[in-house]
Amino acid sequence: MGKLQLGLLSSHTGSNIQAIVQACQNSTLDAAPRVIISNNSGSNDLAYARAEQIPHYHLSSQTHAQAVERDRAMLQVLQHHEVNLVVLSGYMKNLGPLTLAHYRNRILNIHPSLLPRFGGQSMYGKRVHEAVLASGDTRTGITIHLVDAEYDQGPIVAQHELPILPNDTASALAQRILEQEHLFYVETLCAISQGRLKLDQLN
Ligand code: GRF
Repeated sequence: MGKLQLGLLSSHTGSNIQAIVQACQNSTLDAAPRVIISNNSGSNDLAYARAEQIPHYHLSSQTHAQAVERDRAMLQVLQHHEVNLVVLSGYMKNLGPLTLAHYRNRILNIHPSLLPRFGGQSMYGKRVHEAVLASGDTRTGITIHLVDAEYDQGPIVAQHELPILPNDTASALAQRILEQEHLFYVETLCAISQGRLKLDQLN
């Protein structure tokens, strides 16, 4: 698929996106951050993109009232910046059918549990870790998966397991997992860029 040209999507903090951009900048990852997109005009990731002078866009129901227009605009922006891999982190909206079809097997998301456990539309933020702790599971982790029209249901690309510690709280777990996500997302992208992990062979 050639050098990775990344389109990075996030709604709020964007700490994974920052970790990925930094890995590109310090050559840990052989990829180019081509564009950052958020549905939230006040998001941290758009402020970061401005500071780093990375092309960035706010695309939402405020900028495009109809879902089909948003989908078209998203695809246009990604194509305009020659993106060949779309990377989501904490992006709280579904992608439209045009974008999903054009980037089939080329859209990744990260989720802070071992999917299929603790995934789905209402499973985000602290809720995931609260549910993990309530389940009595002894291990949790991180999943990177391909994105399709359903929340958290696309084929799994990579998983990383972590133990649950005896006195873990949801916040402690959230923080420990997020730190690991930064490393694991970059490692997984390295494996894709070096051809060790092939997205076309997952389904
Ligand atoms: C991460 O925990 C990710 O697994 C989940 O949302 C969070 C996003 O964090 N999907 P950030 O915006 O990258 O800081």
